Amino acid sequence: MAFLSSQTIIIIIIILCILYYLHIYFKKKSKDFSNLSYWEGRYALFSKRMDWYTNYTQLNRDFGLDELIKLNYPSKTYKIRILEMGCGNSTLSYDLFKKGFKNITAIDFSTVIIKKMKEYYKDTNINFNVCDFNYMNIYFEENSFDLIIEKAGLDSIATKGTDDVPELLYKVFKNIHYILCDKGILFSFSSKNIEFWKKTIYNRLENEKLFKIMDIKKTIFRTEVNTINMNLYFFYLKKI
Ligand SMILES: C[S@@+](CC[C@H](N)C(=O)[O-])C[C@H]1O[C@@H](n2cnc3c(N)ncnc32)[C@H](O)[C@@H]1O
Repeated sequence: MAFLSSQTIIIIIIILCILYYLHIYFKKKSKDFSNLSYWEGRYALFSKRMDWYTNYTQLNRDFGLDELIKLNYPSKTYKIRILEMGCGNSTLSYDLFKKGFKNITAIDFSTVIIKKMKEYYKDTNINFNVCDFNYMNIYFEENSFDLIIEKAGLDSIATKGTDDVPELLYKVFKNIHYILCDKGILFSFSSKNIEFWKKTIYNRLENEKLFKIMDIKKTIFRTEVNTINMNLYFFYLKKI
């Protein structure tokens, strides 16, 4: 290094710093789960059916979902209008269909995965649609669903880590409120805990009398990939 002038060394250090920050920036951007191009790319490469966190069988066993649905809709259990938000390549809608629920709509903003899901489940009457959470109020009419289920869909926004996350989630919750029927219910499954959700959005939803939080439960799931035990939270909300 003796032959390098101090000026050259400073320039090299500056270039290395810039490269390091660019690396961090693009790494963060490529894992932005709220970004449509991330999902389109992922589903174009990898579309084998899989469930984030866990499947309906474990969710039902740990959280008693079937019972909750029956409790809310005793006279029309299997006729209720269900929406799955951010279905991806999950089997959740199909699992509900196999149980006997026949009025199921599933949405995702990825055209790639919706095309594939339509093909996988062409022998069912599940209604797969390309729709962004932000436009559900335009795509669907007011009072279109009795139950909305989402698993890791809202986490795509929640894990963004930017200051606008509360506002982004508020906009989506306003849409959920709009398309749910009176006293309609939302089942939400997240890796984020209640402190996060209360601080970010639930306190506001309760203060504005949009939703009531009926129940919160926690279970443990094991990831398929690296078999680490992780917490999974279930939030059960009712439209006021
Ligand atoms: C983490 S994956 C979960 C997929 C599936 N729910 C599951 O449990 O396996 C999140 C899904 O939400 C979808 N998504 C993210 N943001 C969205 C938005 N603003 N509108 C519609 N879909 C969105 C993604 O395309 C992706 O399929």
